Amino acid sequence: MNVAVVGTGYVGLVTGTCLAETGNSVTCVDNNPEKLALLQGGGIPIYEPGLDVLVKRNREAGRLTFTGDLAAAVRGAKFIFVAVGTPELPNGDVDLKYVNAVVDGVCAALKELPKGAPGDRIIVLKSTVPPGTNRAVTERVIANGCSHVSVASNPEFLKEGAALEDFMNPDRVVVGVRHELVGEALGELYAPYCTVDRPFLVMAPESAEMTKYAANAVLATKISFINEVANLCDAAGADINAVRKGIGHDQRIGFQFFAPGPGYGGSCFPKDVLGLIAAAQRMGVKLRVCEAVDEANDAQKKVLFGKITKHFGGQLAGKTFAVWGLAFKPKTDDIREAPALTLIDALLAAGAKVKTFDPEAAKNVKAIYGDKLQYAADPLGALDGATALVLVTEWPEFRGPDFVEVKKRLAAPVIFDGRNLYAEQEHHLLEAGFTYYGIGRGKN
Ligand code: UDX
Repeated sequence: MNVAVVGTGYVGLVTGTCLAETGNSVTCVDNNPEKLALLQGGGIPIYEPGLDVLVKRNREAGRLTFTGDLAAAVRGAKFIFVAVGTPELPNGDVDLKYVNAVVDGVCAALKELPKGAPGDRIIVLKSTVPPGTNRAVTERVIANGCSHVSVASNPEFLKEGAALEDFMNPDRVVVGVRHELVGEALGELYAPYCTVDRPFLVMAPESAEMTKYAANAVLATKISFINEVANLCDAAGADINAVRKGIGHDQRIGFQFFAPGPGYGGSCFPKDVLGLIAAAQRMGVKLRVCEAVDEANDAQKKVLFGKITKHFGGQLAGKTFAVWGLAFKPKTDDIREAPALTLIDALLAAGAKVKTFDPEAAKNVKAIYGDKLQYAADPLGALDGATALVLVTEWPEFRGPDFVEVKKRLAAPVIFDGRNLYAEQEHHLLEAGFTYYGIGRGKN
């Protein structure tokens, strides 16, 4: 099947590549000349495990091409995926200007072509957009003289760092359509990825749009909830790891997205929680739980700094802190809304110096902070000249450091572990003379 994917950001590039992998002919479109040149030359603008191999294979097989020519790409396509950015407006609402511009461009290219049956041409909204957007885009398409073009909603549930696996083996595929034939056409496209256990779910566009926001909001809620319990454990002298086991074995609660940390970040949870609140507000509904989730997360991003300040009696000026992990989570170079940045800003504002290490995200941090920070070439290198170690992102390479070496290099043997990565070894660390702070381990 012929597919056009407009927008070669994270979602567009993964979607286009994975659709090519099962034999479709995919043209990815982008209007950023630098990104396009990189992709056309065989490069990849983001770090995502396995994506380089898949892009190469499908490019070489002739199933995956990149172009700046939107009109040419969509004229031959049955499915036109829209995967452009949906930035946040100051009031938390979603800015649809890029989506609308693409829709107008697609209509301009398709207007003169022979009209077919519903399902012959489908604009598939992949970008995360508030409930009601499909309706507005459908009206826009009709106003643009393209009533023969259908508009479907197909939210993505891709986790950065595991996006290929999530696309190829989805928990479910959700599509929102107004016409049965459109659902059938998308069902055919997604058939290679779906099984009885990985169902293809067809619903109304409004429900599909809501599904995406509700899924992210419930996951963000779980995280903020367990973070809150962890903070209470610190105050009460309880251990969040014991408490997690105590509650997580209840099948109704479970363990997933229930690990305390330095607050959730990334391009989705923070933005989608606020987007849902704003969309609800427009409809006259107040989302009290989501508002609290967002507020709790803002506070959580300051918890590590609070522990550091307390330990050093507020005397941070002139001290150097080693920060391990800058990306908002492991296996990505994405630093959007990363808790490490909130911590770094607070440390710098307190007059401290910061020496960082991240396997992939350092270049993105350097682009913003420049020489305000130091960048080590390896984890241990970040400890030289540092007073204490703060672990923010749980990259696998941080799991088992040589603690003898860590102690030797730090001026004060203190570890602030934002992911409870060393919680199981806490008594060894204490025996070795470290002071150890986790999140929710019964100590502020
Ligand atoms: C998320 C959703 O998981 C995905 O389905 C959606 O489509 C896009 O948004 P992503 O932003 O890539 O994916 O990251 P995710 O793995 O969900 O993590 C989000 C944040 O939550 C990270 O900062 C992570 O560290 C944090 N987190 C996650 C926790 O603090 N505790 C947990 O238990 C799980």
